[in-house]
Amino acid sequence: MINLAILASGSGSNAEAIIRYFKDHETIKVVLILSNNSNAGVLNRAKEHNVKSIVVNSEQTKQGVLFNELKNNHIDYIILAGYMKLVPKQIIEAFPKRILNIHPALLPKFGGKGMYGMNVHQAVVQAQEKESGMTIHYVSEHYDEGAIIFQEAVSLSDSDTPEEVAKKVLKLEHKNYPRVIEEVVNGKH
Ligand code: GAR
Repeated sequence: MINLAILASGSGSNAEAIIRYFKDHETIKVVLILSNNSNAGVLNRAKEHNVKSIVVNSEQTKQGVLFNELKNNHIDYIILAGYMKLVPKQIIEAFPKRILNIHPALLPKFGGKGMYGMNVHQAVVQAQEKESGMTIHYVSEHYDEGAIIFQEAVSLSDSDTPEEVAKKVLKLEHKNYPRVIEEVVNGKH
């Protein structure tokens, strides 16, 4: 089996889509949810689906606890799904081309520092973009700068609010992320 760990800080709708997709998969299994936030909705979703979850705070992460959990649970791929913390260098170096992130915009536009969650959609609306979308990429030491694996765009209308943009983009994320993870694990990228 190829073991996946999902790192998430928030609601976890992507995490849930991924758990569902791989539920009865023959070769790929979501074995662990890791969160930096003990109030994150993703922890309830993990429980509902009987997936082990662990909260590791920033201080513990600095001390190597996150790294140790990944190793102890025999994780092969790390999936970031709304994880709002930097992944320590030690982990990035130990998992080359084995860490994926999803970003709620068409990188390189609307990426980088401060560009996460609703901030991204607010910036997109403010810039009067005609489209937005989602990007799945490998994680390198520099945030949002790893090689792009897959992108899909969606049209926006002038009247779309940031919340409406978020909804459109999330729909694309749920549709694409599990399938692209499967492709990466199967060596298609
Ligand atoms: C998703 O839209 C994801 O792309 C974004 O956070 C949301 C999490 O939603 N990630 C980032 O902004 C990372 N820079 P979810 O918790 O419902 O999956």
